[in-house]
Amino acid sequence: MLELITQYQTEINSFQSGNADEIEQFRIKFLGTKGLIKSLFDDFKNVPNEQKKEVGQLLNQLKNTANDKLKSLQDALENQQADQGKFGDLTRPGYPIEIGARHPISIVRNKIIEIFNRIGYVVSEGPEIEDDWHNFTALNLPEYHPARDMQDTFFIEKSDDVKKDMLLRTHTSSVQVRYMDTHQPPIRTISPGRVYRNEDISARSHCLFHQVEGLYIDTNVSFADLKQTLMYFTKEMFGKSKIRLRPSYFPFTEPSAEVDIYWGLETEVDYRITKGTGWLEIMGCGMVDPNVLKNANIDPEKYSGFAFGMGIERIAMLLYQIPDIRMFYENDVNFLKQFKSVI
Ligand code: PHE
Repeated sequence: MLELITQYQTEINSFQSGNADEIEQFRIKFLGTKGLIKSLFDDFKNVPNEQKKEVGQLLNQLKNTANDKLKSLQDALENQQADQGKFGDLTRPGYPIEIGARHPISIVRNKIIEIFNRIGYVVSEGPEIEDDWHNFTALNLPEYHPARDMQDTFFIEKSDDVKKDMLLRTHTSSVQVRYMDTHQPPIRTISPGRVYRNEDISARSHCLFHQVEGLYIDTNVSFADLKQTLMYFTKEMFGKSKIRLRPSYFPFTEPSAEVDIYWGLETEVDYRITKGTGWLEIMGCGMVDPNVLKNANIDPEKYSGFAFGMGIERIAMLLYQIPDIRMFYENDVNFLKQFKSVI
C-alpha cells in the first residue's frame, strides 16, 4: 500500500498537460469513482490497525495532491482559452485601414483652385485679422461710406481713427490688395480663405464662411474677358456654361454684376433650389474700380482688370445638396464620411 501511494504521488507530481482530454483522463484515472485513489481507500480496511494512522494521513495527502494538481491544470487551461478569445484568431487577415474623407469645403476649394490654376491663376493668401486699409479703405470704401454697412464687421480694435481699426476680414478682397502691393501686372491670382461677418446664424448664413476671390489685371482687359472666364469656370465646375450677369453694386468694381447660372428645371430639387426660376446666383464680379488700382500704385490709364468673388459653402451646398450651412462646422463624422469617395 505504502509503495503504491509513493508511486502515485510521483506520477501525479510529474504530470503535465495543456490538453483538455488528457486532463480529463488524469482526473478519471486518479480521482474518478473507479479511480486509483478510490480503490486505495477501499483497500484501507485491510491495512493493519497499527499502520492505519500513518497510511490514512498519506492517503489523504495523496488525494489532496491529486485534487490540487487537477485544479491548477484546469485553471491554466481556462486562462489559455481566455487569452485566445482576447486575441482572436491571430492568423486572420487584419482590418483594412480606413481611408479618411476630405471636408466638403476643402474639396470644393481645391476644385476651384485647380480650375483657375489651369488658366494661369496663382493662389495668394493673407491674414484673417486685417487692418482697415486692406479690408475697406484701399477697396474704395472710405470712412462713412454707406457700403461699409453691407458687411457687418467684427472689430478687434475700434477707435475714432479708422486707420487704427483692426478687424476680422469680411472678404478675401483684402488679400488682393496685399497682392497688388507686392506684384505688378500682369496679375492673375485667386485668394481662398476664411472670412467673418457679424450675422445671425441660421441654415443659410453663418458668422464665418469661406470665399474664393479672383483678380486679373493686365493691359486691355475687358468685360468680355470677364464673361469668358466666368463661362469657362461654370462649365468646368458645374458642367453648365449658361450664365447671366445682372447689374449690381460693389464699391471696388465698376461696373459690377451678380452672376447667375442656369441650373435647369429638370427635377423637383431644381425647382426648390432655384425657387422655380431655373436660375441660381453664384457670385459677384466686376471691373476693378480705377480708384482701387490707384490705391495699389497701379496706373489705371495703362491697366485694367476684373475681380470676382464667391462663397465656397454656397457652392458646396448646391453641389452636394446640403440643406444647412451649420453642418459644415459640426464635425459630425457621419456627415463627413459621405465625402470619402470624392477627392
Ligand atoms: N468681395 C465681395 C463680397 O465679399 C465679392 C466680390 C469680389 C464682388 C470681387 C465683386 C468683385 O461680397
